Amino acid sequence: MTTFRDGLLEGKVAFVAGGTSGINLGIAKRIAQLGAKVAVCGRDPDKAARAAGAIGPDALGLSADVRDFAAIRAALEQTAGDFGPLDIVVAGAAGNFLAPALGMSANAFKTVVDIDLLGTFNTLRACHDLLNRPGASLIAITAGQADQAMALQIHACAAKAGVNQVVRTLAIEWGPDVRVNGISPGPIAGTEGMERLSPPGMREASEARIPLKRWGEIEEIADAAAFLCSPAATYITGTILDVDGGSSVGDAGRMDFAKGLS
Ligand code: HXC
Ligand code: NAP
Repeated sequence: MTTFRDGLLEGKVAFVAGGTSGINLGIAKRIAQLGAKVAVCGRDPDKAARAAGAIGPDALGLSADVRDFAAIRAALEQTAGDFGPLDIVVAGAAGNFLAPALGMSANAFKTVVDIDLLGTFNTLRACHDLLNRPGASLIAITAGQADQAMALQIHACAAKAGVNQVVRTLAIEWGPDVRVNGISPGPIAGTEGMERLSPPGMREASEARIPLKRWGEIEEIADAAAFLCSPAATYITGTILDVDGGSSVGDAGRMDFAKGLS
């Protein structure tokens, strides 16, 4: 449930890359509930159309691969053409699988780096001249892997560390009129990400280590995104907001994927 008043984002326009499922779809729904016009984008056009339908009758479901600059630029242009200049852009597309470095080809490593890191750069770079400035808010979705090395995650650790630095660099370069922040979710229940990364039995072990003793909910990430693009966050830029039940405090919630697989 949201704690923000209805209409908080009335008149705003939002684009959510990777917004056709999971956490990012939850963010798109929350932003739309608060009054914004929302476009979501993923590779699969049918999935994008279904996601738009779930958000509401006015939502746009677009298809583009974030690794392809021209494609993501076209989706952003379509959104600005239909709805007007963009106030909120979320760069959330990602890919992941568990594999040891020695079980990963160069192309496997590159694939995740290209989706997560290059895709974040492409989405944010491509939107800049379509933004409603001053006042636009950009959010990249990162992960604890950015700071905590985790076995079987060398691609995601490298990519998400880069995402954090993209956030910080753009916050400096685009400073006066565009805010750029990251959200780092902890393990979130009911998502493709945790479906892929946690074998049976791992949830309990993981929850025991997290200070708040549970996995998070999609809605809790959506609330954080709503906060970051709301008038309550106008002096916040260049930050990575951990929404992870304390997983990132010290070594508290580090996930041992190698142990989970054994
Ligand atoms: C080793 C693998 C592999 C695996 C794929 N590859 N899966 N290598 N182990 N399990 C290799 C392939 O063999 C290939 O290398 C290369 O990766 C590219 O694979 P493709 O299938 O051609 O790539 P593509 O079609 O672009 O698909 C990308 C994908 C896929 C990442 C592989 O899984 C995908 O589309 N994922 C999107 C959805 C997703 O992952 N959601 C979860 C995000 S959650 P070769 O050498 O054979 O060519 C997340 C969680 C964060 O990020 C943190 C949680 C705590
Ligand atoms: P998800 O449901 O698999 O969502 C991934 C989204 O990205 C989908 O909309 C997918 O649609 C899209 N996508 C994937 N590759 C793409 C590409 N090349 N171009 C364009 N779109 C692409 O994943 P999730 O688990 O909710 O994760 C969402 C975000 O949260 C990710 O950034 C992830 O790293 C981060 N995160 C998740 C967790 C977790 O617990 N799940 C924890 C920390 C961080 P298509 O497949 O149709 O392209």
